[in-house]
Amino acid sequence: MTGKSSNQMWGGRFASGPDAIMEEINASIDFDRKLFAQDIRGSLAHADMLADNGIISAEDRDKIAQGLNTILSEIEAGTFEFSRRLEDIHMNIEARLSDLIGPAAGRLHTARSRNDQVALDFRLWVREELEKTENALSKLIGAFLDRAEEHADTVMPGFTHLQTAQPVTFGHHCMAYVEMFGRDRSRVRDALARLDECPLGAAALAGTGFAIDRHQTAKALGFSAPTRNSIDTVSDRDFALEFLGLAAICGTHLSRLAEEIVIWSTPQFGFVRLSDSFSTGSSIMPQKKNPDAAELVRAKTGRINGALIALLTVMKGLPLAYSKDMQEDKEQVFDAAETLELAIAAMTGMIGDLHILQDGMKAAAGSGYSTATDLADWLVREAGLPFREAHHVTGRAVAMAEDKGCDLSDLPLADLQAINGAITKDVFSVLSVEASVASRTSFGGTAPKNVREQIAWWRKQL
Ligand code: ARG
Repeated sequence: MTGKSSNQMWGGRFASGPDAIMEEINASIDFDRKLFAQDIRGSLAHADMLADNGIISAEDRDKIAQGLNTILSEIEAGTFEFSRRLEDIHMNIEARLSDLIGPAAGRLHTARSRNDQVALDFRLWVREELEKTENALSKLIGAFLDRAEEHADTVMPGFTHLQTAQPVTFGHHCMAYVEMFGRDRSRVRDALARLDECPLGAAALAGTGFAIDRHQTAKALGFSAPTRNSIDTVSDRDFALEFLGLAAICGTHLSRLAEEIVIWSTPQFGFVRLSDSFSTGSSIMPQKKNPDAAELVRAKTGRINGALIALLTVMKGLPLAYSKDMQEDKEQVFDAAETLELAIAAMTGMIGDLHILQDGMKAAAGSGYSTATDLADWLVREAGLPFREAHHVTGRAVAMAEDKGCDLSDLPLADLQAINGAITKDVFSVLSVEASVASRTSFGGTAPKNVREQIAWWRKQL
């Protein structure tokens, strides 16, 4: 066919076909072919419903179903010929159906429009993607739980401002990520719950005069109910925005984890060693092991954020109901979904494989006067000092240790007593990093016993 003959689906009032540039900007088949399985699934449910309600004959329904199943196999086998002239996946499939079964194909589009059709297909696709994301996050959480269990007692420095703050356990740090990815997973579930309404039957925007049964198609396609307003149905892309929103937040969490792995694996920190499977070498510096996978995850967050902003911008200010602008929704979501899936999988692998350098962590945990708060707390508890005064006394002890170039626990008792007479040798029992973490038993605190309780709680959630 030449580009100038009118469209076989909607060309009735057109004398000639589109300009080549028009076809180029209008066609979405190059990307929306990804929706073929969803499109066919929706059409099968629609044809069944039309036949069950006496809108088309059972004979036509059977022909349609047979034709659609043939098309499904053709596309899966790679023998289907997609045509840009037919714009999108919906019309490519319908045109082929017409080749295969003749005039009965023309009855499939009764009481339906591409507007509710694409809203359905895309929703089905996003629903599957959300389910995949939920599974992937469960695996990532599982990987963290295993590491947390292994390292419930392993001490490391906890940071604020990336300055050594107080000792924590590596298990507790892992569990912080479990909380973050756990919230991501609950956002996925929220999105799935809100997405759970079927758009099919809203037609172009106003519903239809045919006696369709939207509850039947909703049920057949695995939704709890049909959507309630036909105008909203064809103009709503919240489900895609929500997916991108949760993907962006999850990507942000992944990027923070990636950054920590990059920092921890430097010789300067020496907290972890990357496995060979998730690092690369340098072509010029033989000593190097680079955290490329972590760096790429850190960067890929940018793509996901970009997709969210792009779709928000497409939707912003659009009048109700459908506008062709909305065709620009898909590529962003496809790319973000692929990116997120890969990033989560890479992080799951990396976390499982990470060698934890306990000695390096422990040495760092004890440096930087990380148990100064424990000294101040001891003064409050054992010597009855107000916390502010205890803070001041401890500050003087830190200054003295700094002068002497030693740790707090290395200061002679006499020197500590010169700062405050109430100090006894018992104070040394709280100055070790192990004692410090073991003492932090408040709910949500870093004590190994608490970490084990949290791990058990999370295992039950999975
Ligand atoms: N390819 C279109 C899209 O993705 C399908 C809907 C077309 N609807 C229309 N009224 N032109 O949005």
